[in-house]
Amino acid sequence: MTRYDVVIVGAGAAGMMCAIEAGRRGRSVCVIEHGKAPGEKIRISGGGRCNFTNLHTGPGNFLSANPHFAKSALKRYTQQDFIGWVDRHGIAWHEKTLGQLFCDQSARQIVDGLTGDMRDAGATLRLGVSVTSHTREGEGFRLDLSDGSTLTCQSLVIASGGKSIPKMGATGFGYDAARQYGLAVTETRPALVPLTFDPDTLARFKPLSGVAADISARCNGTAFEEAMLFTHRGLSGPAILQISSFWREGHDIVIRFLPGRDWFGTLRAARTETPRQALQSVLAEHLPKRLAQLLAEEAGLRGNMADQSDKKLQKAGAMLESWTVRPTGSEGYRTAEVTLGGVDTNGLDSRTLQARSVPGLYFIGEVVDVTGWLGGYNFQWAWSSGWSAGQVA
Ligand code: FDA
Repeated sequence: MTRYDVVIVGAGAAGMMCAIEAGRRGRSVCVIEHGKAPGEKIRISGGGRCNFTNLHTGPGNFLSANPHFAKSALKRYTQQDFIGWVDRHGIAWHEKTLGQLFCDQSARQIVDGLTGDMRDAGATLRLGVSVTSHTREGEGFRLDLSDGSTLTCQSLVIASGGKSIPKMGATGFGYDAARQYGLAVTETRPALVPLTFDPDTLARFKPLSGVAADISARCNGTAFEEAMLFTHRGLSGPAILQISSFWREGHDIVIRFLPGRDWFGTLRAARTETPRQALQSVLAEHLPKRLAQLLAEEAGLRGNMADQSDKKLQKAGAMLESWTVRPTGSEGYRTAEVTLGGVDTNGLDSRTLQARSVPGLYFIGEVVDVTGWLGGYNFQWAWSSGWSAGQVA
């Protein structure tokens, strides 16, 4: 039986950050990771370049049953703090768009920096081992591991992430652990995920597979302006991934093509300037050809632009500004970037991420009911919550 001050389950972004901070305080730390390598999601993120934070991170970029919960940790360890960490490790980075920061070279640099810091802080990393059972023992915890060994610790930090990408080792471990110690878990669902459609709609979209357009996607009072991509399964691209976190079954998504464009004005001008053109050709001047064809068919206008009344153009313009689709589902955890929902924040202290009713038990990172938008926010939550717990665990 080996005793540590702190045992952390999960060597992802949150777990490693917590291990570094706790280790630097002189705590003996052991990180248990059932995968073969630490930080696998960091490694594959952002197309291998890791969108490690966002310049504009604020509490408004997160979904949670308690929208105030993330404030404290995000303020204690900010995006500037993590940028400082990246700079100190000599990792070159750039802003891609919308405040999203990526490594110039490789996400592996972040993983190497974190594992190097863990080593320097004296933390032990045990790979390829999982926790078979854990329980409260005295003032602390006892964990039985898959290799037959047993650990005891004063502080147990659950950093096992969400359910997305089970192929990479995602499990429901953290949610089960929360329930075991009497904490509530809010409903979980795949988020930042491509959306799927019924066979008839899919058949309509099929010729457009691979086509992208700038849109705004609106659902349940929230809208995102970014690119949308037609795929052979339905819709994807950043605007759709973003809105997927707000969408629920049975709800519509309203799409505006080329947000900011006055489509009625555009069509009326085309009627004057190119009266012999069909709507499809007019649309193809602004949108990809195959998409222009689909939208012109859906507008159902017969004849050339010269044949169209103001009323008809107004109707076509309105369609281009509020094209409504109703997804039937999503691609699920297989491709979702994150899990929405998780350990109920009512049971956690927002400053330390410690369970209110179980001293010494902490939940950090994605397992908590705090889910960021697309764009580096989820890693920032992992760094901020991991750092905050690391100051006290
Ligand atoms: P994370 O999932 O990283 O780590 C949890 C660790 O616990 C894993 O290593 C897992 O193997 C381990 N584990 C699970 N159960 C265990 C058990 N029972 N025993 C032992 N170990 C266990 N975000 C962002 O901000 N920018 C981006 O660019 C991207 N890109 C991106 C791409 C893809 C493809 C995905 C799937 C996700 C992203 N994300 C992202 C989201 C981001 O990866 C995610 O929010 C963080 O990795 C969450 O960090 P955590 O440390 O909480 O969990």
